[in-house]
Order: sequence, then C-alpha cells, then structure tokens
Amino acid sequence: MAMRSALRGLCGKTSSLPVGPKLQPIACVPHRKFHEDFLHKQKNPEKPTVLITGSLGQLGQGLAKLLRERYGRYNVIMSDIIKAPDHILEAGPYIYADILDFKNLQEITVNYRIDSIVHFSALLSAIGEQNVPLAMRVNIEGLHNILELSNQYRLKLFVPSTIGAFGPDSPRNPTPDLTIQRPRTIYGVAKVHAELIGEYYNQRFGLDFRSLRFPGIISSDTHPGGGTTDYAVAIFHEALRARQYECYLEPDTMLPMMYIDDCLRSIMEFMELPEDRLKMRTYNIQAMSFTPRILAEAVKKYVPDFEMSYKPDSRQAIADTWPMKFDDSRARADWNWRHEYDVDRLCQVMFDALMPKYNTEQRSQASSRS
Ligand SMILES: NC(=O)c1ccc[n+]([C@@H]2O[C@H](COP(=O)([O-])OP(=O)(O)OC[C@H]3O[C@@H](n4cnc5c(N)ncnc54)[C@H](O)[C@@H]3O)[C@@H](O)[C@H]2O)c1
Repeated sequence: MAMRSALRGLCGKTSSLPVGPKLQPIACVPHRKFHEDFLHKQKNPEKPTVLITGSLGQLGQGLAKLLRERYGRYNVIMSDIIKAPDHILEAGPYIYADILDFKNLQEITVNYRIDSIVHFSALLSAIGEQNVPLAMRVNIEGLHNILELSNQYRLKLFVPSTIGAFGPDSPRNPTPDLTIQRPRTIYGVAKVHAELIGEYYNQRFGLDFRSLRFPGIISSDTHPGGGTTDYAVAIFHEALRARQYECYLEPDTMLPMMYIDDCLRSIMEFMELPEDRLKMRTYNIQAMSFTPRILAEAVKKYVPDFEMSYKPDSRQAIADTWPMKFDDSRARADWNWRHEYDVDRLCQVMFDALMPKYNTEQRSQASSRS
C-alpha cells in the first residue's frame, strides 16, 4: 500500500508525496523515473534485485512471494505482458516487460539495477503445439534476448527446464541427467536449446547460467498455463466442484510431478548456491511419480464418491514420450536437493487449501436456490 499511495497522482505534475523531510517537492518528475528511484530507495542493499519474467503464470506469483520474504519486498520485480490484478500491485513492484523487446529489457535492467533474472516467460507444451510460430518466438527468440541481456549486464540467470526436454528415445524410467534428448514438441526443442546455449554461454563467456528440469508442477492458488500435466491440478478442483473428472490421459500414464512449494524452494536454494558447488549447470529434480489412476485413488480418500473417466486427447502422445521418473541423484549429491511432498502430503495440502473455497461456493449456491 505504501508504494501505491506514494506513486498515486504522480503524472509529471508537482507532488509533495514521498519526498523525505529534507527534500523539496519535486516539480515535473517524470512518472517512470520517480517510480524507479522510489523503488531503489526501498530496497535492501544487502540482497540481490531479482527480475521475474512471465511472473503472472503458475510459478511466478509464488516465487515472488517467497523471494520477497527473504530479500525484501522491493528487491523482487515481477513482470509480464498482461495486466496484473490489484493484489499483485499491492504486494510489491510489478512492471510490463515483453521478452521479445530487447531495448525494453535493457532499460529495465539499468533503471531497476537488476542483479538476477528468473526467466519464466514461455508457451507451455500443449499451448505451444497450437501455435508453433509464436512458441518459437517466445521460447527461443525471447530466451536469446534474456541470455544476451544477462551476459551484457553480468546477471545471474535461472531458466527452468522440464521433463518435456526429453523424447521417445530417452530412457524413461528413470531418466538420467545426461542422456539422449530428442523431444517431439516445440516446447521441448526450445528447452533443450535453452539448456545447451545456456551452458555454452557459461563456458564461453562465464555467464552464471543455472537450470533445473522440473516435473509437472501442482499448485492450489494459481492455474497451470496449458501443459500436459495440467490434469493433476484440475482433478482437485473438479473432485470438489463436480465429484467427477474426465481425464485427457490414459489411466496408467506415469509422469513425474512436484508440489509447488518444493519447486519454488528448489529455485531459491539452487540460485543461492556458490558457483563452486555446481558440477553441472542443468540438473533433474524429482519429487513423486504417479498415474491418473493412482491420483484418483488418493483423491477418493477425501471425496469418496469421486469418479474419474478417461478420454485421451493429443496430450497423450506428448506424455507417452516423456520421462516416467527422473533420476535426480546428482542434484541430491551435489547440492543436497530434498523434496518434502509425496502423493499423500500433496492431497492433504491441496484439499486443505481448496475445500474451504468450494464449501463456501456450494453454500452460497444452495442459499441462492432456497
Ligand atoms: N508449470 C509447470 O508445470 C512447469 C514445469 C516445468 C517447467 N516449467 C517452466 O517454468 C516456467 C514458468 O511456467 P508457468 O507454469 O508459470 O508458465 P505459465 O504459462 O503459467 O506462465 C507463463 C507466463 O509467460 C508470459 N508471457 C508470454 N509471452 C510473453 C512475452 N512475450 N513476454 C513476457 N512474458 C510473456 C505469460 O503472460 C504467462 O504469464 C516456464 O518456463 C515453464 O516452461 C513449468
């Protein structure tokens, strides 16, 4: 609220708002310059300033919250190309950043004095297949911009990778860190490219590039952005809302999954590691693997009359080429990666978060009917 009220009303006009006691009111301060200076003064100078691209997606909002708890509210700049809801604007800095606009990215890096980037902007697997030219632009050209920017300004860079970076020729159970990678989606091809070119920039220019290959991520308060593992989020909502769910994968399709808290903590821990702890630049990390059938059984413990039906669509072909389980022994050995959530704990935390919401909805529907 402090930042919003401080910035309110500043449109290049005289203002007497957040000028400290010794300063004179500022005449004709350009709004943006004021905004940036204000934020800089609020930052914790002992901590890095982190820019999160694509931060309004499934992962960005939670990561911003976690990093702000650790580094301070104004040290974490959220960005995206879509309008943010009020609660995001109230929580801390949020700005427009299109990863396809290199000059815009340079300006942000200089003006906000960015030290690290967490690069989340992407079109995910299923959405990417629906618009390959756009996926190439966002996932490949956009990555080039972020990489070049990070190299020019010596920023630390985190780019998430995925189970989708593997394909039908990779060993699937388990999939090691270093193996054949011949993915069949534009999403996967772009991620392999990101891993390789990031490692190349590290060897060639000393760029501090870091990447983790994530399983499908499950969260209760943000929605997935069009991936092949989205069913593992939708099932909880539909179990509570409709007591049934039609799954777009076959019942025995095993995929690796992870609860969002493990995912976000892994990013923070991995980014904070001293460089000499890293023996590789890209690591697999694993938490749990399950099939739709196994998850449906676990859901029934909370919603006994829940029924799952199956109607595979184009996402089945993608899932059939992906790892069933990651071998993450190197992450566990090199930097002590540990997951905290298995299937049972996942169900517990998802239902704890979602039940009150759906109970309230059902109560209000019932009262409007009566
Ligand atoms: N969610 C998962 O299960 C999962 C698993 C493995 C890896 N990842 C990776 O983590 C990252 C974040 O995933 P997510 O689930 O939050 O994605 P998401 O689809 O929910 O969000 C992506 C965000 O990118 C933004 N974006 C699109 N075009 C842009 C542009 N030109 N400039 C700036 N931003 C743009 C979108 O507006 C969106 O908010 C992605 O790189 C994804 O590949 C996600």
